[in-house]
Amino acid sequence: MKPLELLLMAAVLHFGMGCGVMALAEETPPTIIVSPPDKILVHETTLSVVLKVNTTQVDQIQLWTSMGRTTFDLNSSKAYYCQSISLRLGENRIDVRSYKDNALVSEQVRHLYVTSPIYQEFKYPPTEYQRHFFHTDTNEAKCQSCHDMSVNEVKGVAFIDVTKSNCYHCHHNITNAKYAHAPAVNWLCTSCHNGEVGSDNKKFQGRSKYLVPEPVNTLCFRCHKKNFKLWQSYRYRHEPLDSGRCNKCHNSHASPYKMFVRKPVNSICMGCHKDKQIRAKRHGSKCEGASEGKRCIACHTPHASSREFFLKEKKSKEHNGTRTRLPQKETLHE
Ligand code: HEC
Ligand code: HEC
Ligand code: HEC
Ligand code: HEC
Ligand code: HEC
Ligand code: HEC
Ligand code: HEC
Repeated sequence: MKPLELLLMAAVLHFGMGCGVMALAEETPPTIIVSPPDKILVHETTLSVVLKVNTTQVDQIQLWTSMGRTTFDLNSSKAYYCQSISLRLGENRIDVRSYKDNALVSEQVRHLYVTSPIYQEFKYPPTEYQRHFFHTDTNEAKCQSCHDMSVNEVKGVAFIDVTKSNCYHCHHNITNAKYAHAPAVNWLCTSCHNGEVGSDNKKFQGRSKYLVPEPVNTLCFRCHKKNFKLWQSYRYRHEPLDSGRCNKCHNSHASPYKMFVRKPVNSICMGCHKDKQIRAKRHGSKCEGASEGKRCIACHTPHASSREFFLKEKKSKEHNGTRTRLPQKETLHE
């Protein structure tokens, strides 16, 4: 049913109850989805939904996502409704249903696709989904009457109270996982999101203030200098490392797995080395036992080694106990 027909139906229903004041003349829908647009491709499982509502025409909104329903009981003094939602990998549908006196007055739908570089099934999204960027002056202007859109971080200095980061208000869910990366959890977002591009994303230059130079390895090595020196000194380096795609395996912000790898270590390896699944089960194979709880990295290193097949160093330079570890929330020095 079209929104207009629904409005008419609602009007008819309400006449009987003696409250037939209905604004049928307006052209603009009573609820506008300010963000996100339709058919976009995203890389994270969190997103903001922003609605602008004409509260004379709508008194309740139900926001349906793949994860469930959120209900907003509208307040006539408030026109904007902002909500952080969670998404799942692959296709997602957001359904915004506007009600007046319990009757549906409009329904709008958004389709999104969360892609992942490591899950084979989500690596190649359907072509109708397009990359989209939010942080342009035009888009930010829609928020700045209520939100401070400026960057308020001091280079290399962690926030004592991360909720004071201007980015935190809208993106707080991005670090909500068991293992979080120090610069992200300290809200030093622009240490990576510096607006630069690399050869992989050159075509997006200038589309957002907060792009990341891809491939990301040069970025990672600005801080992980020791790893760079060590891995560079080895004869054998793993292809995804050498090509600079650290973010294929690591999520730069946070994840439920140690070192914020995108999925359990063995599934990461198996994603690209499917044949090893059989080998890991075959009796007498060198990789034997890996599928039954033993991790591939018990014998291999994911990065680089002086031994063939990236077998771990006999006496690992990486685990000699001298590496210092910064507590997660403290001042960072680059
Ligand atoms: C009229 C004021 C107003 C405008 C305009 C506005 N917001 Fe908000 N926003 C708020 C307020 C107030 C909050 C605090 C939470 C609340 O009370 O809803 C908020 C919270 C948020 C949150 C956090 C929601 C959550 O679930 O944690 C996000 C994300 C957000 N806004 C995004 C945006 C974006 C993006 C825009 C621009 C497209 C925007 N807002 C425009 C007032 C506004
Ligand atoms: C008013 C809310 C709001 C604030 C404040 C905000 N963002 Fe965003 N940001 C968004 C929305 C909306 C998107 C689109 C994707 C989404 O919904 O998560 C986005 C997307 C992004 C992206 C992806 C690239 C792009 O342009 O779409 C990056 C990176 C990002 N934000 C970084 C930041 C950083 C860094 C800050 C702080 C300096 C910040 N954001 C502050 C709302 C906000
Ligand atoms: C260590 C580097 C690094 C830090 C620190 C970092 N990011 Fe990111 N971020 C990335 C990379 C790389 C991507 C590209 C997508 C990917 O690899 O998943 C990304 C992607 C994003 C996206 C998703 C864009 C999309 O395409 O959907 C958002 C939103 C975002 N970052 C926000 C933030 C915010 C907010 C902070 C601060 C808390 C932050 N990032 C800190 C490296 C970083
Ligand atoms: C702004 C500096 C900075 C950048 C850029 C940066 N990191 Fe980090 N990273 C840190 C700090 C600080 C720590 C915590 C100290 C430590 O354990 O080494 C850390 C920790 C890590 C850890 C966990 C190490 C451990 O032993 O627990 C991994 C994995 C990691 N970073 C990967 C990356 C990747 C991948 C990139 C690029 C996308 C990157 N980092 C970019 C500063 C940075
Ligand atoms: C093939 C997947 C893969 C790639 C590509 C990758 N990593 Fe890792 N990384 C891992 C795994 C797996 C671990 C160990 C996780 C564990 O111990 O649970 C790890 C651990 C780490 C650690 C902590 C341990 C150590 O060796 O210091 C750092 C730092 C790190 N990675 C940084 C990077 C950087 C920087 C890049 C890109 C130059 C990168 N990684 C590329 C899979 C990968
Ligand atoms: C993003 C895809 C990808 C991931 C994830 C990945 N690899 Fe690889 N790996 C490659 C590519 C590409 C090569 C080089 C091509 C080849 O020789 O097969 C390679 C080569 C190797 C080799 C050497 C093969 C040889 O014959 O020299 C080993 C051993 C290896 N990977 C182990 C691992 C382990 C252990 C993991 C998990 C920590 C892992 N890989 C995760 C893509 C990946
Ligand atoms: C018990 C130690 C051990 C475990 C666990 C292990 N490997 Fe191996 N792997 C080896 C050794 C030793 C070699 C050396 C080549 C040989 O002798 O066949 C090897 C060789 C390889 C090679 C390169 C040779 C080839 O056949 O392409 C790959 C790729 C590989 N392993 C991947 C994996 C993956 C993925 C896992 C986790 C499922 C894993 N390994 C678990 C010991 C192990």
